[in-house]
Amino acid sequence: MTVEALPSPVRTGFPADFVWGAATAAYQIEGAAALDGRTPSIWDTFSHTPGKVRNGDTGDIAADHYHRYREDIALMSELGLGAYRFSLSWPRVRPGGQGPANRAGLDFYDRLVDELLANGVTPVATLYHWDLPQELEDEGGWTDRDTAYRFAEYAAIAAEALGDRVPTWTTLNEPWCSAFLGYGNGVHAPGRTDPVAALTAHHHLLLAHGLGTAALRSALPAGAQVSLTLNLAAVRPLSTDPGDLDAARRIDGLANRIFLDPVFHGRYPADVLADTAQLTDWAFVRDGDLAEISRPIDSLGINYYTPTVVAADDPAAPAPRQDGHAGELSPWPADRGVRFLPAEGSRTAMGWPVDADGLYELLTRLRDDLPGLPLLVTENGAAYEDYTDPSGAVHDPERVAYLHGHLSAVRRAMADGAPVRGYFLWSLLDNFEWAYGYSKRFGIVHVDFASQRRTPKDSARWYARVIRTGDLPQ
Ligand code: FCB
Repeated sequence: MTVEALPSPVRTGFPADFVWGAATAAYQIEGAAALDGRTPSIWDTFSHTPGKVRNGDTGDIAADHYHRYREDIALMSELGLGAYRFSLSWPRVRPGGQGPANRAGLDFYDRLVDELLANGVTPVATLYHWDLPQELEDEGGWTDRDTAYRFAEYAAIAAEALGDRVPTWTTLNEPWCSAFLGYGNGVHAPGRTDPVAALTAHHHLLLAHGLGTAALRSALPAGAQVSLTLNLAAVRPLSTDPGDLDAARRIDGLANRIFLDPVFHGRYPADVLADTAQLTDWAFVRDGDLAEISRPIDSLGINYYTPTVVAADDPAAPAPRQDGHAGELSPWPADRGVRFLPAEGSRTAMGWPVDADGLYELLTRLRDDLPGLPLLVTENGAAYEDYTDPSGAVHDPERVAYLHGHLSAVRRAMADGAPVRGYFLWSLLDNFEWAYGYSKRFGIVHVDFASQRRTPKDSARWYARVIRTGDLPQ
């Protein structure tokens, strides 16, 4: 065999320009809930409502990042992070959701962005990670079309203030959760439980994305990147039986195509409209909305944790809640006839099965469905029962294994042609995990919430090494 005939070596490393990041969200880490003019968001109201969040936890103080951002950025710099995905708090930037911008609130993000840049970390800003100003909810929240227009105004304010230094913007984080957990089964703020409200909110969130994209484009310098982050589901039918395949089609419609079709093709999927026809005629979609929603964007963010396995069920039976989301009610409108099953594999502290193939499946599907569109993994990570041992260390081998498996899946998808440009680990810090409060730890940096002491876990050191070498340890 000549040398030329040898197969080229399998590349395990990531490209030199691959973006290595970590992610957080404002309400989950900032604290300072009533400081410098910030007004309550729906998550302040929800977390202060007895029974909504485990242990009565709130984001009042959280990881106190508002005061400790310098220390946190020093940690990012030690890790060698190339980029940091954070969100802006809408009621900090524009208290009450309308009216003038709040200079003191914007000043915090000015300081944050300047400190990131001084440490060589690229800021990636998300405008909406679920903290709707309470006053807007009082007027209907995402079921009210006007909320989308208020969002676009807020997007313009943020872009004018920070657009000279923030190169990448994301309109919404996981609108599925905002609509279906917030208005469908009520486990997230504002805690409404009405499937029609969920579908209405869904459409207005997408309208906000479209109007927000336009507002960002006109305020940002040329070359700025605009994106959207979705928690698309890696949906698998239990078998190839027609009933199971149809269950997978329905959930693929309500989890994936209900976003991808309007955003990238300017239409809602006909089968989703048919599946939900008994609930609503979708009259909340007005002429011109889909053109607005399908404005071109520069990349798509994917958040992935675990796959979704479905099977056919007796349509008369109430669907058992095995879809990984807490709560008694289904978040899925029109999911009668669908049964959710856990995937195989070990579970994280959230009870979510560990299955990296789901991430590969999603990324290669998007390679095929949206050819050429750059992809970013904007969240991926795991909660485990971490604790500091007597020597002060936090050993989290399960998280290292989780990250290793999922980064291998990303690399494999890239080798198979998926245009993945970066990976943002969820999360930099332990934080307020929504309805689970502080009971679930997703950070690669441990936070002792009593003292606010930060301790990098073993996974942080492991990730730093991956970033440094651009490769996964064998
Ligand atoms: C995602 C959220 C993020 C975090 C992770 C675990 O759905 O975007 O804020 O809670 O789940």
